[in-house]
Amino acid sequence: MGDMLRQANLVVSAWDGDLLVGIARSLTDFAYATYLADLAVRESHQRLGIGRELMRRTQAEAPRANLILLAAPKAVEYYPHVGFTQHGSAWVLYAGSEIR
Ligand SMILES: CC(C)(COP(=O)(O)OP(=O)(O)OC[C@H]1O[C@@H](n2cnc3c(N)ncnc32)[C@H](O)[C@@H]1OP(=O)(O)O)[C@@H](O)C(=O)NCCC(=O)NCCS
Repeated sequence: MGDMLRQANLVVSAWDGDLLVGIARSLTDFAYATYLADLAVRESHQRLGIGRELMRRTQAEAPRANLILLAAPKAVEYYPHVGFTQHGSAWVLYAGSEIR
């Protein structure tokens, strides 16, 4: 967790007073690609537009870059709903797998 936060170069967070209620953690080159590695909103604060706003602010920091992500199973309907296009040729090489 520590490395995930330290090594990310674009982190946007949402707060309700002192309570962290949302986070968008990305790696970006600010030119071509922003990989949105994690988007999470506290359960008590979901469906209030916080996820959408975290992504808007992430995009605003790197407006020329495409926003790219892998959806968690529970969020597969979310991303098309807020404007993302499904990419038919996205590929993952899982950690520990070898390039053949
Ligand atoms: C998925 C998640 C980030 C959405 O954040 P949120 O702040 O609750 O969503 P928003 O309020 O921005 O929702 C925007 C719109 O998407 C809809 N929506 C929210 N969650 C949805 C879901 N899981 N599936 C489909 N639509 C969803 C909302 O109803 C809203 O629609 P409307 O504007 O037409 O009324 C949040 O539910 C979450 O953190 N879930 C658990 C962790 C997770 O799965 N993260 C995604 C990792 S890829």
